[in-house]
Amino acid sequence: MRTHHCGDLNASVSGKEVVLAGWVDTVRISGKIGFLLLRDRSGIVQVFLDKKLAEANQYLKPQSVVLVKGLVNKRPENQVKKEMKTGAVEVAAASVEVLNMAETPLPIEIAEETTTGLDKRLDYRFLDVRRQRVTDIFTVRSKIYSTTVAFFEKEGFINIQTPKLTASGVESGAEEFKIPYFGKTASLAQSPQIYKQMFVVSGLEKVYELGTVFRAEKSHTTRHLTEFTGVDFEMGFIRDEHDVMTIVEKYFVYLITEIKKSCREELARLGVDLHVPKTIPKLSMHEARNILKKLGKIVPENEDLDADGEKMIAHYIKEKLQSDFVFMLDYPWEKRPFYHMRPEKDKKVTKSFDLVYNGVEIATGAQREHRLQVLEAQAMEKGIDLTLMPFYRDIFRYGCPPHGGVGLGLDRITEQMLQLGNIREAILLPRDPERLTP
Ligand code: 4AD
Ligand code: MG
Repeated sequence: MRTHHCGDLNASVSGKEVVLAGWVDTVRISGKIGFLLLRDRSGIVQVFLDKKLAEANQYLKPQSVVLVKGLVNKRPENQVKKEMKTGAVEVAAASVEVLNMAETPLPIEIAEETTTGLDKRLDYRFLDVRRQRVTDIFTVRSKIYSTTVAFFEKEGFINIQTPKLTASGVESGAEEFKIPYFGKTASLAQSPQIYKQMFVVSGLEKVYELGTVFRAEKSHTTRHLTEFTGVDFEMGFIRDEHDVMTIVEKYFVYLITEIKKSCREELARLGVDLHVPKTIPKLSMHEARNILKKLGKIVPENEDLDADGEKMIAHYIKEKLQSDFVFMLDYPWEKRPFYHMRPEKDKKVTKSFDLVYNGVEIATGAQREHRLQVLEAQAMEKGIDLTLMPFYRDIFRYGCPPHGGVGLGLDRITEQMLQLGNIREAILLPRDPERLTP
């Protein structure tokens, strides 16, 4: 249909006939001539309409889809629009074919500085994406996704897809969505935890999955969704949880280096300056509690950090060590699921960690308890009878290497990397307790 994309036109094609197609961004008919700004995914170009075409298109509505044939002309130096990528040229239309006329009025304001609120924008997300900023966010997210896959492949992890319809979850604290299942009740997977352990034990040794995770959390925050994309990996033959952290650190060095390189234009338009981490500092919960105490915040021994505590620690680390990332170690046993390993010397904590990026938790990981007797006792402590989960219990019976892994949230990574302020900005169609449509 097209010979060129709008954003690709520059002085080197001037004098050429082109065929463009896209959405009408704005249309101005004044007196005997007209201008329309034509937009496609690559950018915007100005199209000049002579008297005949201006008259014929006087009722053209913004956001209509048109096919334009015309001649590319260099613009006089004093008319060059610096703010437009294609500012040096315009297209003198020979014909404008309306492929589909848009209705008016539009339900949201499609402008870079839109006055439409987030809720309404999400109701009409497909129109919201027509804004450059939103297209940029999802272009970066797409690159985060593909770079993540590339990283795990490069590191020798094997990609797995595990069931989302499950019998029951293991992530205590995270609620399950229960659904009817042929006379039984099924749970939508709260994480691939059981399965990623299963396939390390199977002999695949190192596995990863990018998949949907469901959490029936009635949280109304800027960082919780009821459905999100988890980046999970699990690896066998580790010495301890620090081996797992090494992979996480390597991943973020690779990811941010790649995004800086391949999304230069998007990052510039979004006003985001990314720093590639060197070594990610590690802070035990014990140290974190002491730091917070000095700052006037008391966190009890058996408590997790809340959102506020994470922000304060992140701020402290940024000031002291100039790092956007910090690993928080040794989370309390009371707050972690039964499958975490505990250090021999202190059974009140777990061999676990969180990764905080720009003040928000984006990952949780740990070494798992792989010794069945210990695991059974730990489950009992949490009120779980493992004999009722025979297929999970079996994993530990026939040769189970020491192993560990991490769950990261793709939506949170995107949100925190681009500093979007709300996780809903980082996902096309968010699901939260109030939102099931579109
Ligand atoms: O911290 P979570 O609950 O940990 C697990 O699921 C463990 N199985 C991980 C492991 O391998 N030990 O979830 C992991 C990550 C969080 O750090 C966060 O990035 C994201 O998943 N996440 C959410 N993202 C959006 N909305 C929610 N409600 C989320 N809950 C967790
Ligand atoms: Mg967590």
